[in-house]
Amino acid sequence: MREAVAEYVGSARGVLCSPEQVIVVAGIQHGLDLAIRVLVDAGDTVCLEDPCHPIVNAMFRALPANVVAAPVDERGLDVAAARRRCSRPRLIYVTPAHQFPLGSMMTMSRRLALLAWAADSGAWIFEDDYDSEYRYEGRPIPALQGIDGSGSVIFSGSFSKVLLPTLRLGYLIVPPELVDTFAAARQMTDGHSSVLDQAVLCDFLTAATLPDTSGGCARSMQLAFMRCRAHSPAGWPATWSSHRRSRESPRSSGSSGL
Ligand SMILES: Cc1ncc(COP(=O)(O)O)c(C=O)c1O
Repeated sequence: MREAVAEYVGSARGVLCSPEQVIVVAGIQHGLDLAIRVLVDAGDTVCLEDPCHPIVNAMFRALPANVVAAPVDERGLDVAAARRRCSRPRLIYVTPAHQFPLGSMMTMSRRLALLAWAADSGAWIFEDDYDSEYRYEGRPIPALQGIDGSGSVIFSGSFSKVLLPTLRLGYLIVPPELVDTFAAARQMTDGHSSVLDQAVLCDFLTAATLPDTSGGCARSMQLAFMRCRAHSPAGWPATWSSHRRSRESPRSSGSSGL
């Protein structure tokens, strides 16, 4: 599974990694929880996009850490403004491929500025790559992780969007020096993801990748997913956010940061 994921993120997202750097998790939410446990101590400063996903916002706000919310516009995180608000962050959370909820893509100049900020300040970047696979035209923009020269990026992806959110499988790509710590944290929290689900997904990834010499693995998965959806009952599979929205009261959504 880790080999298949390394191959997939390399061809579909331009991520540079070995299979050893892949930590299989139950989705990005779980990956972020692990990253917070491993990297953030009480009193640290963390920087996150404002607005961001309400659950991500809540996860950070629950920490005994200083949370700095930095503005986002149509070019992604405003890195200069973030730097002014926060000189020595421990962790910076971003959604460069598809900002949630604004939908913008971080420009190359901001990506380079963000990587320079992390390298200068010794911060870790958590790259949430949720919903990076779908584009109306052109190929998805490669991941921040692939252009990072200082090993500061923890890349996080998910099969929730290209397959289905109830599968609960995703991955972290962590820098080599963090592999053992993340693997130990994964072991301590819930051991591992379902081996059966991983075996099926691994077969699928391998089969989807093998005949594909054009690097369009994500496209093959999208097509398979769309075929699945065409044959499934109306409204299935429900997304995490639509589930959440239907349960939320108007009052609680007001304080969600959106
Ligand atoms: C930006 C963002 N990050 C993470 C998640 C959660 O992803 P996963 O299902 O992989 O835990 C979502 C789900 O909607 C999301 O929108």
